[in-house]
Amino acid sequence: MNIAGTTHTAQAGQHSPNTGLTGLNREVRVVQRATGIPGPEVFRVGEAPRPECAADGVLVRVLYASVDPGMRGWLSAERNYFHVADGEVMPAEGVGVVIESRDPRWQVGDQLFGRFGWQQYAAAGAAQLHWRIDPKIAPPPVWVGSLGFNGLTAWVGLRHLGRPRAGDTVLITTAAGAVGSVVASLARASGANVVGIAGGPAKVRRCLDDLGYAAAIDYKAPDLARSVVQACPNGVDVYFDNTGGAIADAVFAVLNKGARIVQCGTTSVASWNPPPSGPRRERDVLVKRLSWCGFVITDHADLFPRAFEELKDLYVRGALAADTQILDGLDAAPGALQYLYSGANHGRLCIRP
Ligand SMILES: NC(=O)c1ccc[n+]([C@@H]2O[C@H](COP(=O)([O-])OP(=O)(O)OC[C@H]3O[C@@H](n4cnc5c(N)ncnc54)[C@H](OP(=O)(O)O)[C@@H]3O)[C@@H](O)[C@H]2O)c1
Repeated sequence: MNIAGTTHTAQAGQHSPNTGLTGLNREVRVVQRATGIPGPEVFRVGEAPRPECAADGVLVRVLYASVDPGMRGWLSAERNYFHVADGEVMPAEGVGVVIESRDPRWQVGDQLFGRFGWQQYAAAGAAQLHWRIDPKIAPPPVWVGSLGFNGLTAWVGLRHLGRPRAGDTVLITTAAGAVGSVVASLARASGANVVGIAGGPAKVRRCLDDLGYAAAIDYKAPDLARSVVQACPNGVDVYFDNTGGAIADAVFAVLNKGARIVQCGTTSVASWNPPPSGPRRERDVLVKRLSWCGFVITDHADLFPRAFEELKDLYVRGALAADTQILDGLDAAPGALQYLYSGANHGRLCIRP
């Protein structure tokens, strides 16, 4: 089955194409704190003079900018590990093409992966620049997703922490999403039995037909706990959790002795202030000898070369999930997080500024 590389484009509002012909920069700035999922009121789309190339950096024209669930935390009134202040251009990873360089490592025309933000042009120094992409291997949006931090997150979470063996059952939440779908590709490559949890019948079908899951569950349907038991008759050895909350509550009962829980995200939890209450799991952790481990991808740069080796190899062989969906124009950006949290996205969601 070849699962790599479908691109969907959604039109949203007026689009000023990023042609590079003016001295202006269209940009999206944060104007207020978000309560819950950040909506259009949190952002303002405007124009400013195009930034100057940094003394030892580059000026890029941004081709694609990411939309990530983690941005909800960055914009929240609660203080998070990463915080975006009011007035800043919305930060985001993306791919840009170098149009001016004062750093001998980067040449005009290079396509770079970096933290360029929701804007048409970005002046970037070493702190914002991650690496050069190779568009001959995959188109730029894939380097924002399955060959970017989504793929690396899936690899570090599964290979470094989950460590499935052939025959293990790996259960994945946000199963059809950008990270979840890559976890499924990697788990399949390990010979594991891969089960997904996603929202709604269409996503369940996608998991089964396009993403290589052996079984898939709709968490919005009644009696999730029973569906999990039915889909995992041999229990669960690796639980790759992107949601937490009530979905995780339903999974704990089927975890096998020695299972690894990889806490990658908490998408289903609207607020941690106050922390939500639920079943206490200390006894399960003890008696079942569970390992429950969280991680933040930027702490694991030492693993990226090994991760890239496998991700690129799977991609080239058509065995890496790499769906991308493009929102056309910065006018789509203020509504992009609500769109993502609605579950309407097909894989990695990007904005083309
Ligand atoms: N630890 C790290 O360093 C790291 C790095 C990157 C990403 N992550 C995490 O990885 C997870 C997936 O990110 P992604 O970029 O791949 O996003 P994604 O899965 O492509 O999109 C987010 C998905 O979340 C699901 N969702 C929204 N509200 C939900 C709810 N109340 N309950 C359950 N599911 C809900 C929706 O899917 P359905 O339609 O299936 O509901 C939506 O499509 C996120 O939790 C993110 O924070 C962690």
